[in-house]
Amino acid sequence: MPNRREFLSYPAVAMFAPACASAPELDSALGALANMGERAPEEVAADESAWRDIQQAFTVDRSQINLNNGGVSPAPRLVQEAHKRRLDFSNENSARHLWEILEPQKEHVREGLARLFGSDKEEIAITRNASESLENCLLGAALGRGDEVVTTEQDYPRMLTALDQRARRDGIVVRKLSLPVPCEDFDEIVRRFEAALGERTKLILICHVINITGQIMPVRRIVELGRRRGIPVVVDGAHGFAHLDFRRDDLDCDFYGTSLHKWLFAPHGTGMLYVRRERIRELWPLFAADAKQSDDIRKFEEIGTHPAAPLLSIGEALLFHHGIGPARKEARMRYLRDHWAKRLLRNERVHLNTSLRREYSCGVANLRIDGLDMSKLRGHLWSEYKIYTTYIGPPLPAQTEGLRITPSVYTTLDELDRFCEAIETVLLEGLPA
Ligand SMILES: Cc1ncc(COP(=O)(O)O)c(C=O)c1O
Repeated sequence: MPNRREFLSYPAVAMFAPACASAPELDSALGALANMGERAPEEVAADESAWRDIQQAFTVDRSQINLNNGGVSPAPRLVQEAHKRRLDFSNENSARHLWEILEPQKEHVREGLARLFGSDKEEIAITRNASESLENCLLGAALGRGDEVVTTEQDYPRMLTALDQRARRDGIVVRKLSLPVPCEDFDEIVRRFEAALGERTKLILICHVINITGQIMPVRRIVELGRRRGIPVVVDGAHGFAHLDFRRDDLDCDFYGTSLHKWLFAPHGTGMLYVRRERIRELWPLFAADAKQSDDIRKFEEIGTHPAAPLLSIGEALLFHHGIGPARKEARMRYLRDHWAKRLLRNERVHLNTSLRREYSCGVANLRIDGLDMSKLRGHLWSEYKIYTTYIGPPLPAQTEGLRITPSVYTTLDELDRFCEAIETVLLEGLPA
């Protein structure tokens, strides 16, 4: 692993470093991690001294324990400061500063995202969130009456709503497959998809990582399956991007949409859409764009006046992400998950709706306890301990019911121990009536 000077000279990083007026913040945020040499990610993940500076790089309220980082993440101080500076600058002379100075800088961010994702920058659109990215794909695909889209019951509700609306409006047919929970058999998932594809199937929608259970999907295999039949796959990467260490070619997909305010720790209201170059023309943007832009990825950014500050501060989030190192971040997320999950699993009433095996999950996991109302448990954890979790329940598929636990790189082992102690107390004493 690089020292700070080497790190700042990386091409993906160097483009942001000069614009980053907060070098001391970067220094203190990355501190110990910058000098970890060539140690394996798993070894660094288990070294608490390496993570102390990262924990302090966030301004989270430590009187609470936030275990819902999967919903939306806080940004590190470095990103917050950059965001605020740009917001101030945008308000000094809005039209000139927004459109003449800040907007053109977006191209650096596009380049940085493309390098991290492993695509060309002309295939990356900067959006406001995963919903916008994916709705461009789901509503913009040319589908007619009777055409089928195959997806799963566990895909994100808003994305399913987009498809259901198309069913009502355009007469498409949406097939939602059920999936085993947890699933440690990719062959079974691929078999279910294969069996569902038919003559009229025109599109597949899958998650990279399912948000309610943390299940990693066999994206590349489903993409291969689809490609053999000429069916493109839209990948919902809301929980995959900047959480798992991967590149576009590992998935080989044609469409990938993600938020950046989840695992990249960019400002709220930031997202990314990847569309393979050859497919840009065929996809209609959500907001109308000029015919001249048909092959231009920027046609997905024609949303009218919008703030530049969050979008440009994706740059600092990229800097922070590269500073941690994608492989070390993934390893740390798994380490944190194992820390709480393996302790609680010692009690035979505790189960996970998530596999603990490396290829099937990472930092997001879903917990279930025999004989306990998980919705009430969530309320109790908050009211009694100020521990914030997510209840997964109806109308989501019944076999996914549980508490979703998503720590983040800033979460301390002590916080996870306090969470475990709270659950252990409930296991002993039950929930208050
Ligand atoms: C799997 C998945 N897809 C899409 C989204 C939508 O993300 P956003 O609300 O940032 O658009 C989420 C949000 O939690 C998600 O978990």
